[in-house]
Formats: sequence, C-alpha cells, structure tokens
Amino acid sequence: MSKSTIIITGGAGFIGSHVVRRFVNNYPDYKIYNFDNLTYAGNLANLKDIELKSNYHFIKGDITDAAFVNKLFADINPDAVIHLAAESHVDRSITNPLEFIMTNIVGTVNLLNAARHTWIKDKKVSSGKRFYHISTDEVYGSLGNTGFFTENTSYDPRSPYSASKASSDHLVMAYHHTYHLPVVLSNCSNNYGSHHFPEKLIPLAINNIKNMKPVPVYGKGENVRDWLYVEDHARAIDVIFHKGKEGEKYNVGGNNEWKNIDLIRLLCSVMDKKLNRKEGTSASLITFVTDRPGHDLRYAIDSTKLQNELGWKPSLQFEEGLEKTVDWYLANDAWLQQVTSGEYMTYYQHQYDAR
Ligand code: NAD
Ligand code: TYD
Repeated sequence: MSKSTIIITGGAGFIGSHVVRRFVNNYPDYKIYNFDNLTYAGNLANLKDIELKSNYHFIKGDITDAAFVNKLFADINPDAVIHLAAESHVDRSITNPLEFIMTNIVGTVNLLNAARHTWIKDKKVSSGKRFYHISTDEVYGSLGNTGFFTENTSYDPRSPYSASKASSDHLVMAYHHTYHLPVVLSNCSNNYGSHHFPEKLIPLAINNIKNMKPVPVYGKGENVRDWLYVEDHARAIDVIFHKGKEGEKYNVGGNNEWKNIDLIRLLCSVMDKKLNRKEGTSASLITFVTDRPGHDLRYAIDSTKLQNELGWKPSLQFEEGLEKTVDWYLANDAWLQQVTSGEYMTYYQHQYDAR
C-alpha cells in the first residue's frame, strides 16, 4: 500500500485525532480522508496542527446515512478504511441506547456494504484493500479479581455501548467469512491522554479538580480498568493496519490495571503538585456517588499476540503518561472551555456548512 487513499472515520474524536495526526505526519504519500459527523465528541480543533497539510482532507458526514457513505466511496475509491467513528460513552448508552445502535451497528454495516460493493466485483476481491475496525475490550464483559481477556475470550457485553460494539465486531467478521472482505480488528483497553472529552473519568476529574468541583467516584471506586496512553494505541493501530493478518483480531492493552479510587488519588496528588496546592486539597474533592447500573467490575487485556507477532508494546509508564496528560490539560484551558461550553460545535458547523 504505497499510495494509499484511506478513509479514517471518527478522526475528529479523541483517539481518531491521534490516529489522523500520526498517519498524516508519518505517511506523506497517503491521502487521508477524515470522515466525521462532528457530534458533541468530534472537534476539528483537535487537528489544528495538521489541517492545512496537503495529504489531509475533512469530510463532514454521517455514517448512518447509507446514500452518503456509498457516494463517498464511489467518489474517493478508497484503498482502506480505519473505522473509529462511534458513540463511545457507557453512561450515555444507558440513557439513550438507540443512538448507539444506529451509529455503532447500522453505521458500521453501511461502511461494510460500501467497502464490499467497491472492492468486490463478480466475487473477486481487489488486492491491497483493508477494512480495519477499532473496538473495545468491553465486548468481553467483566472479569473477577483474576484473569485476562485474550482474543479467544467469548463475547459477553453487558452495557448498551459494549453490546453495540460487540454486534459491530461480529458483523465485521461475518463480512470476512461471507464475502471475503479483507478485514482486521482490534480490541483495546481504556485510553487516556490529550484531547479526551471531559465526560470520561480522567479528563472529567482533571477539569473538576482544576475548578475545585467534586470528583464523582461511582460506588466504592473498586472497579478496575487497564489504562493505555492514547499515542501508544495510535502506534498499535499503525502497526496492525500495516502488518496485521487479514481476518485476525488483536487485543491492545496497557498491562496497567488501576482501581478507580487509587487512580483518582494518584491524580489528586499530581494535581496538587502541578497547581502548587497543599497536599490533600484535591483529594478532599473526592465524592462517592451512586454506582453506574450494571457497572463492570474489572477489565484486563492480554496483548501477548500483538507483542509477539507484530512487535508492539506500550512505551509509557502510567505515572509519566498521567503527568503528560495533566500538563496538556493545564496548558490548554481554551480547549477545555470550548468543549465544555459546546461553542466549537456551532463554530465549526458554520465554517464547513459555508464551504
Ligand atoms: P470519541 O467519542 O472521542 O469520538 C468519536 C468520533 O466519532 C467523534 O469525532 C464523533 O464526531 C464521530 N462520530 C460519532 N458518530 C458519528 C456518525 N454517526 N458519523 C460520523 N462520525 C461520527 O471516541 P473515542 O474515545 O476516540 O473512540 C474511538 C473508537 O475507539 C470507538 O470506536 C471506540 O469504541 C473505540 N475505543 C475507545 C476506547 C477509549 O478508551 N476511548 C477504548 C477502546 C476502543
Ligand atoms: P469511563 O471513563 O466512563 O470509561 P469506561 O466506562 O468505558 O471504562 O469510566 C472509567 C471508570 O471510571 C469506570 O469504572 C466508571 C468510573 N467513573 C467514575 O467513577 N466516575 C465518573 O464520573 C466516570 C465518568 C466514570
């Protein structure tokens, strides 16, 4: 794939913006099309540093709109798709499941259909094509205190979000088996880093601590997540996109498990230091609140396959990654103000509608 034309869906979101930046900067010969509907989670300010590069193009559109998706594929004739667009927040999926079904399932099927009709003619698959679906470890369900998710762990999703992602994973694999669509899939653990929308635990806590607001910890804070620095995930996506075997899935994880309450306490002490506050000031904001319904206890990824077969491993220790993340949020107050006010949505909507 030396002169690839790649559609990256969801490129204005948290992980997508890191993936777009990496591909635009590292592969000047590729044409990168960022296909994003700019929902509340999509923000073109995330890509300010690369938006004028000649190998970058932005397409505003909705993956649930089959006619739009089909026309885009006909116009661009992509060599590959890296599919990140999704509704991604578990709490929102509990209040509004249908939006998750539409984007995560129907939207994925629209992309699969468009790829199938563009790449497969008379049952012959064009060579050099790739549909890469990005998914989550949450499809595997919840672990007890021990054990890890491997690529062979049975799916057992337990929230509307994880059920919608599990459906999309199954459909991606079904298109491979049924139509020989050249797919690859990865399931990653919780990401953290810059440009993360402040509804998720780490950026929400940073924002609240900065503003001396309560930091909500669900239940007793005993739930465990395996945290990976977002740029390590973007690097894994690069490796799997270029070297992953067709029809295979890969687990991506940080090998970095934290109980929520321990993570928040560590974050509080980092914030006290960075803000020159008396030790214990930020921790006094910790507030235990009603638990999330059906809250999964523990996620932990075994990424041996990716490490052994493709040579990827996480690069950052959590303490270092967390400090870098806090530094970014403290240095980018304007970004935080903008996304919490929602003002960017009208600004960019306007700008692109006017073109
Ligand atoms: P995000 O919510 O930050 O971004 C999602 C992006 O998709 C936004 O830019 C949004 O505008 C776009 N989008 C949403 N609906 C759309 C639609 N109908 N049409 C076009 N674009 C649409 O999400 P994220 O955290 O960056 O996650 C990206 C992907 O990675 C998702 O598929 C998610 O399931 C997966 N994932 C996330 C994590 C995590 O920790 N955040 C971990 C593992 C996997
Ligand atoms: P979150 O960032 O929403 O990611 P996910 O649900 O996909 O793992 O939540 C991470 C963990 O933090 C999860 O166990 C729920 C918990 N949590 C809180 O305790 N308080 C909060 O305000 C949020 C948003 C999450």
